[in-house]
Parts: sequence; structure tokens; C-alpha cells
Amino acid sequence: MCGIIGYVGGKSAAPILLDGLEKLEYRGYDSAGIAVINSNELNVIKTAKRIADLKGITQNGSTTKGNIGIGHTRWATHGAPTETNAHPHISYGGNFAVVHNGIIENYLPLKNELILKGVNFKSETDTEVIAHLLEFNFKGDVFDCIKNTISVLSGSYALGILYLNSPDTLYAVKNFSPLIAGVGVTENFIASDITPLIPHTKDVIYLKDKEIAVITGDSLNIFDLSGKPKSPKIERITGSAESVEKGGYDHFMMKEIKEQPPVILKTATPHIKDGRVVFDGLNLTKEKIKDIKKIVITACGSAYHTGMVAKYVFEQLLKIPVSVDLASEFRYQNPVVDQNTLVIVISQSGETADTLAALNKAKDKGAYTLGIVNVKGSSIAKACHDTLFTGAGSEISVATTKAYSAQLIILYLFAVFMAGHLGTSDEKLRAALLNEIMTLPQKVQEIFMLEENIKALAKKHHTITDAFFIGRNLDYAVALEGALKLKEISYINCLGMAAGELKHGTISLIENGTFVLALAMYEKLNDKMLSNIKEVKARGANVLVVTFKGNNTFLGAADDIIYLPKTHPLLTPSLAVIPLQIFAYYIALFRGADIDKPRNLAKSVTVE
Ligand code: AGP
Repeated sequence: MCGIIGYVGGKSAAPILLDGLEKLEYRGYDSAGIAVINSNELNVIKTAKRIADLKGITQNGSTTKGNIGIGHTRWATHGAPTETNAHPHISYGGNFAVVHNGIIENYLPLKNELILKGVNFKSETDTEVIAHLLEFNFKGDVFDCIKNTISVLSGSYALGILYLNSPDTLYAVKNFSPLIAGVGVTENFIASDITPLIPHTKDVIYLKDKEIAVITGDSLNIFDLSGKPKSPKIERITGSAESVEKGGYDHFMMKEIKEQPPVILKTATPHIKDGRVVFDGLNLTKEKIKDIKKIVITACGSAYHTGMVAKYVFEQLLKIPVSVDLASEFRYQNPVVDQNTLVIVISQSGETADTLAALNKAKDKGAYTLGIVNVKGSSIAKACHDTLFTGAGSEISVATTKAYSAQLIILYLFAVFMAGHLGTSDEKLRAALLNEIMTLPQKVQEIFMLEENIKALAKKHHTITDAFFIGRNLDYAVALEGALKLKEISYINCLGMAAGELKHGTISLIENGTFVLALAMYEKLNDKMLSNIKEVKARGANVLVVTFKGNNTFLGAADDIIYLPKTHPLLTPSLAVIPLQIFAYYIALFRGADIDKPRNLAKSVTVE
């Protein structure tokens, strides 16, 4: 997510903007910039590095004079993370500077129109279109110019706007993307969220969609698109900045768990058009697809677990052999990959050392490499022949949740995309999967209604020292992920395993009171799971089953059962993982663990 800050008042703007951008760093970004008006000049400083770089260039803002300015941290959507693509963007006449959070869906036709009118574009961004439109639409009145400009935009936008010839007025526009005005004394602010405002003021106005704010140091007026003044409510922020960054949740992990419905929707929507899957900008050609004889998926940790899910989905839809390798193993093997192998590299951070090394090994052997990555501009994203971005936004908690779910969505979509090109699965199945994917956000939301039940189960089991998560087929892949979630944040020794493996050794560990979580979303193997549950129950285990509503197979066999909404058999991981995330969260909470920053772990393992 991008971050916006704006200031107008009696103080020097640059230091306030830079400090504000630092407070927005937690949102994740890959470039940043500020624009300040001083003595009829628009000074713009941008970087594709860190905000510290901006502070260095401007000596903490001291060399950039002026009492009005806007700043931005960019999370690249359109265009690579470069200084040119960084915001603020300046209009062709040099009179307008714009920062933007959101996506202008119709930016390309608007850009082409402006190019035909002779406007030269410097960046690949959608935002630059807004800057030039403002310049083009300006006929003497800034408000009218803004109103006419946003009337042709479709999509989401929070805008901070400077007009060179109004050196005492800051303009802001809100539509879908959040934007907040900070009410000071002889100074006023705008920001994407309240964290950068808290050091200056706790009085804020949450702008509503299609509202335009006209802000000076002494006034803050808000209008609707017709120019009618609004009487906004000034709200007082309570709580610390840190609690605000977490959106009111106690931990980033729960915030990110709850973000999964919109993340799933935001990840899927751009890639489903007229009942087909589209990946704009993908270099993988139809001819290349037809040459693929096998697929290797390599990753670490939770990313590896999504690869395990993908194996089942890909083999079902593509009829191509799929192997899944831990990157830390793959990198030291002599893998049998060649130019007819598609190697898929999955990584939230895009910086995991083992995964990057595995990628390079695959490339050295001539494989075609596809990255599934959350962070644009990351090493893995840059090194792959093709990269699909998961768009989960910045994920802070070490234990991944929303990025894992976004990876699953991209993998499902890629499977349907490939099957469409290979003709290896019928159109009805592909359409059914795409329709069902679009119901997942609502179904995940429904599972959140079970939070209190799951919390009570976590309370019941939070003192265990060992746990076994078992499942078959896709449930096995999810059992691995659920076990990792529990162990990494609660420090409980938890084994995720294939249920069918119990009798090959592990069942010797089951004794009175042993906790076993059995995933049973895969209806075809219900009876096999029932046998496994009876086997462990016979040895004293306490069994929690996760299955789908209406499945009464385990009544009387399990100690506790969580019933989830039904979905297509190939999509069950997206639902089954949710209660496991919540269960792990509450167990760790009851154990007093450091949920967002577990001991010994890092969000991105950039060393071996
Ligand atoms: C997941 O909760 C863990 N934090 C960890 O296993 C993680 O998935 C792994 O380190 C891979 O990270 P990546 O996706 O950034 O490559």
C-alpha cells in the first residue's frame, strides 16, 4: 500500500514530510519522494531507495525550504520501483504535483489521449496521467480543474495535490483509498492513515468518497463534487501510534488474518476477465506453454506449503508431472530440469536466500522460471523470466497469513490459465473454479464468525507441549501450514503430516491426552480420515476435526469439530487454513508469546 503525507502551515514542510513518511514505512514501499513549494518554485526530491536516502539528500529536510508540501511512499503497482516512477508526479507545465494511493483503472486510454495531444510521459505510472490532466484541465480555477479531472477517472484514489500558483493551499481528494485530514493550530495535514499525524494532532477528519479538501494553514474546508461545502465531523484519535498501525488489533498477525477477504478479492479480480484468466505482461507464450513437460515448484516454509497445494491442483488440471522441492534442498541437488521445465519460485519477501539460490540453479539449467512474489522490485522478482505479484500488501507479522492466501489464489488462477492454453481440462470446470474463487472472500468472512469458538478451543489446548496436524491430499498440505503457524508463534512442538503415515511410525507417539488436529475437507477420503481418528482416539488422543458443514462423519468420533463453509474440492486450502491461523494466534496469545516477532525468526530469511 502506498503512503501519503501533506502539510501546510507555519513550519518548514520538508522535515515534517520526511518524518511522516518514516511513520508510514511499516506499510512497505519501494520508492519515495516529496514536493515542496518555495518562492514560486516546486522542488521535487525522489528516490528508489529508502527514506533515509531522502533525509540524506535534503539534510533531514533542512535544505528544502517551504511551508507547504506533499510526500509519498510507493508500493509499485504500475511500473517498476524506480526514481522516475516514484511520486510526486509533476504535470507537463510544471504547475501541478500529485501523490496518489490507489489504482486508476482507465489510465491507459487517458494516457493515450494525452499523448495524442502532445504530452510527453516520463513514467510508467497511472498517477502521472492525473498530473497532466490537471494541467490540461486548468482554466483558471483549481477546484474546477480538480473536479473536471476526477470526473474522468475510474478506480480508487487518494490524492494530495499542489498547484504552484496557490503556494498556501493544499488540495486533497478521496475515492475508495483512505485519506485523513489532520486538524492543527495554524497548520493542517493530510495522510493515508493517522500514524504520521499523531505527533502533531489527534484531531482528524476521515474524508469520504468523492470529497475534495481545500486546506491552508488556517482553514480546512471540504466540498462535494458539486462544490457544496460539507460539515465534516472532527474526531479525536485515542491510543498510541503503534496501536493505530495495527488497525486497532493487538497484533499485526490478527490484522493480517482479517485482511484476507479483501486481499483474496484484490488478488483475483484483476486476473479474471470475461470468464478467463488474464496475466497482463506475462512473457510466457502459448508456444512455450506447449513445450512444458514438467513443473518444479521450489520455495521455503509457508511458500513451500502453497507449492504443495499447487501440486495437487496443477496435476489435476494440467496432467503434467509436478514436483515440489524445498529450496534449501533443491539448491544443492543436481535437479533434472531443462528448457522444457517450468520452475515456479514462490516467495512472499522475494529475498529468501535459499529460494533465490534455487532460482539461479534452475536458470543455470535452462529452465523457464516464474516467480510468485509479494514484493515488487525484490531480488527474486527481478531474477525470474516472469513474475506474478500477489498484491497482498505489506505483511508485517513474521508468521505469514494474507500473503500465503494470496499465493494460493495466484496458483489456482495460473493453473486455470495454463489449462486453458493446454486444453487439458474442460471449460465447465475452469469456469466453476473461477466462479468459486470469487466466493472465497465471503466464505473466509463467514469463518471469522467462528472466532470465539476457535479461541475457546485454543484456551482448552494452550498448555500442550506437542501437537500433530494430520490430513490427506490437499488437507495434508494445509496440515503442514497449520503446524508451522502453531510452532513458529507458540513454540509448541507441532508435526504436520500425511494421515496415512501415522501407522508407519508416528502413532507410537500418541498417548493419553496427545492433541491431534485432523483436517477433513477432502470428502473422498472421509472414511480414511475416520479410521485415522479412531486409531489415535484408541490411544488416548484428544482430537479436533476441521471439516465442512453438513459432514456428519466425525460426530461421536472427535472431541471437537469445526465446520467450515463448503467450496470446490481444489480450493479447500483457502478455507481450511483460516481456523488454523486463528487457533495458532490464540494459543500463542494465551501462552504470552511474542506473536508478531517470534524468537529466533525474521520476516525475510536473507541468509542461509
Ligand atoms: C511463514 O509463516 C514463515 N515466516 C516462513 O516459513 C516463511 O514462509 C519462509 O521463510 C519463506 O519466506 P518467503 O515467502 O518470504 O520466501
